[in-house]
Amino acid sequence: MSLPQEIAKRRTFAIISHPDAGKTTITEKVLLFGRALQTAGTVKGKKSGQHAKSDWMEMEKERGISVTTSVMQFPYQEHLVNLLDTPGHEDFSEDTYRTLTAVDSCVMVIDAAKGVEARTRKLMDVTRLRDTPILTFMNKLDRDIRDPMELLDEVETELDILCAPVTWPIGSGKNFKGVYHIHRDETILYQSGQGHTIQDVRIVKGLDNPELDKAVGEAYASELRDELELVMGASNEFDKELFLTGQLTPVFFGTALGNFGVDHMLDGLVDWAPQPQGRETEDGRIEADNDGFSGFVFKIQANMDPRHRDRIAFCRIVSGKYEKGMKMHHARIGKDIRISDALTFLAGDRELLEEAYAGDIIGLHNHGTIRIGDTFTSGQGSRFTGIPNFAPELFKRIRLRDPLKQKQLLKGLIQLSEEGAVQVFRPLANNDLIVGAVGVLQFDVVVARLKAEYNVDALYEHINVNTARWVYSDDERKLDEFRRKAEVNLALDGGDNLTYIAPTAVNLQLAQERYPDIQFTHTREH
Ligand code: G4P
Repeated sequence: MSLPQEIAKRRTFAIISHPDAGKTTITEKVLLFGRALQTAGTVKGKKSGQHAKSDWMEMEKERGISVTTSVMQFPYQEHLVNLLDTPGHEDFSEDTYRTLTAVDSCVMVIDAAKGVEARTRKLMDVTRLRDTPILTFMNKLDRDIRDPMELLDEVETELDILCAPVTWPIGSGKNFKGVYHIHRDETILYQSGQGHTIQDVRIVKGLDNPELDKAVGEAYASELRDELELVMGASNEFDKELFLTGQLTPVFFGTALGNFGVDHMLDGLVDWAPQPQGRETEDGRIEADNDGFSGFVFKIQANMDPRHRDRIAFCRIVSGKYEKGMKMHHARIGKDIRISDALTFLAGDRELLEEAYAGDIIGLHNHGTIRIGDTFTSGQGSRFTGIPNFAPELFKRIRLRDPLKQKQLLKGLIQLSEEGAVQVFRPLANNDLIVGAVGVLQFDVVVARLKAEYNVDALYEHINVNTARWVYSDDERKLDEFRRKAEVNLALDGGDNLTYIAPTAVNLQLAQERYPDIQFTHTREH
């Protein structure tokens, strides 16, 4: 197959939703359709005692959140689909943000009994930064849901995106009968209790078919006809151009638990969602069908497999093709490296990879030289932009219970900070270690992981830090002077970048006024 054909085959997407809307359950069904799982129920089952492979940490199992971002690749029809899992908890928004830079479309899952929830709103704000195309899945139709028309209204007004229903539900809860597929002019009938398999569906062609009345009952059939008339008048028709620019979302109804409707959404995804798209670099855009290989790292994960203590860098291929044994140019450090052990991720299982194409995610073994945002190319290409770190907002001093493990502690902290969920700061003026995070939960995660993965017993102490800024200057002399004069407030982060640690907002403001030649930044582009 040629490069353009390989690219055209691919779809790379993520699922976004408020916790509990059904992201994990949908992931499971999607993998079932992709024949990546034999029976559904193996991704996560709090009750069955089985856990998703991404739920590898005790703590996240307990809290029922997924801290990791994993990648799953599976075939669907003639296509190859890459699904990137986004961490569900609010505290990990920074991680989620970066994951969303690596996809070309998103599926938004809404609990149809609840409607638009807080986290959905936030995630939509993030996808809007790049006008990512969004498909919508209204989930839990096996429960009593809110009026479907009202749900579409809410999405339109609260999320500022037009809705184009592709399927329309017939009843809900105990009386959920199925959906009418507006584009195919057919009714797909729902059978309960078949959630773990791919169902043999019963289809009734045509809206006016008397079979429909028999299948769902006269009352439901005539209600459907009335409703559809209303819907067609009041809502939007699907428009691919508006979809591709993030202004309109096709809407599907179903139940993930009952494995009903997920395939309609997948059909929409492979038919309409864009194939792998190019990305911006410092010197302009690189398109996916550019022959040369290029990619960027959006995620690093330490100790995915605790037995091997490895750190994997997740690299989204932007253009061209990866081949085992190829030479890549590591743009930030300006070196060529030969890669022969990149990994692919099949439903959470990793496998050594022979080749991969634009849109795919490959795992690179990281021995400390790869950071989030790094660019790899087959030539001397320029660096990709738009993958930031955000300055943390919460700070604690971290201290050992056993002082002999200082080296282990530092190593653990630096490796965990490579993942980008926390930052570690080492003040120039003393031997403190300061952990900075965007959300509180991360502090607990760090201590638990230090114990589990590095055998280090650590605890936190209060520290008087209000905010941190990365500092730069084009003028070396001014930077040196600043470094001397402001030493008490300066620290190095995990990647040895100079940072200003301010005890108060006023202190930061004064420093900015006093040193006008120094740039203080809230985000650090890698
Ligand atoms: P999340 O990843 O978005 O947080 O949601 P998840 O899939 O874990 O689903 C949250 C809860 O909603 C789960 O129940 C799940 O079984 C349920 N659920 C998902 N889809 C549907 C659906 O279509 N219909 C109904 N009725 N329920 C659905 P739980 O009891 O919290 O967890 P579990 O013990 O079943 O795993």
